[in-house]
Amino acid sequence: MTTSPLWTCAGALGLTALAFPFGLTAPPQTADAAPPAESRGPVATVAVEPVAVEPVAVEPAADVKDPVADRPLAPVETDMHEFMEYVYQPTYRRLKASMAAEEKDRKAWSAVKSDALILAEAGNLTLMRGPQGEDRAAWNAHSVATRDAGGALYRAAKAKDESVAQQSYRTMIQHCNACHTQFADGEHMLTP
Ligand code: HEC
Repeated sequence: MTTSPLWTCAGALGLTALAFPFGLTAPPQTADAAPPAESRGPVATVAVEPVAVEPVAVEPAADVKDPVADRPLAPVETDMHEFMEYVYQPTYRRLKASMAAEEKDRKAWSAVKSDALILAEAGNLTLMRGPQGEDRAAWNAHSVATRDAGGALYRAAKAKDESVAQQSYRTMIQHCNACHTQFADGEHMLTP
């Protein structure tokens, strides 16, 4: 384990992760500020022990100020039908037409990038609109899966990678349909 070449890679990740425990133990008055330069410098050169990499610090410390706490997210259109009709439907139609082109020039890839990014980011917006109660977890899972497939399509379009783009596009549509199956009575089954 200690000789695994993985740690070479994990070491690079650990450089940033390592700064975190210092933030946790810092006195409260410095918790909001960036760590002082002198604590970052030496940390970057410390050899990373496997144990330091385990708890990759994705959870913010409780006393770290939430940058959007005073700007709460709020849906503009709370009606799901309107939201799908005006945000998703025209985007999906454009995207479908763009994806059908066998030879995509720069303009076509640009159109794919735009629509893929809109649908991917819209996945974050459906997260704000789910039903309350026990169905919420499933709703969120469909939203995240759609968002991530849309993100993969966006990145493939940036790389002008036709085969990955087609694959991601189809995966995304499957996730759209999975949510429709569960939450729209099986209506709106979309074809890629
Ligand atoms: C988290 C759940 C969820 C996801 C993910 C989702 N949808 Fe929907 N969608 C719905 C619901 C619910 C409706 C039905 C709304 C209604 O009519 O009450 C709907 C309806 C629609 C409609 C019909 C709108 C109309 O005017 O009748 C279209 C088109 C649509 N979605 C496109 C998409 C596309 C494209 C994706 C994927 C990129 C997608 N949806 C992903 C929940 C979802």
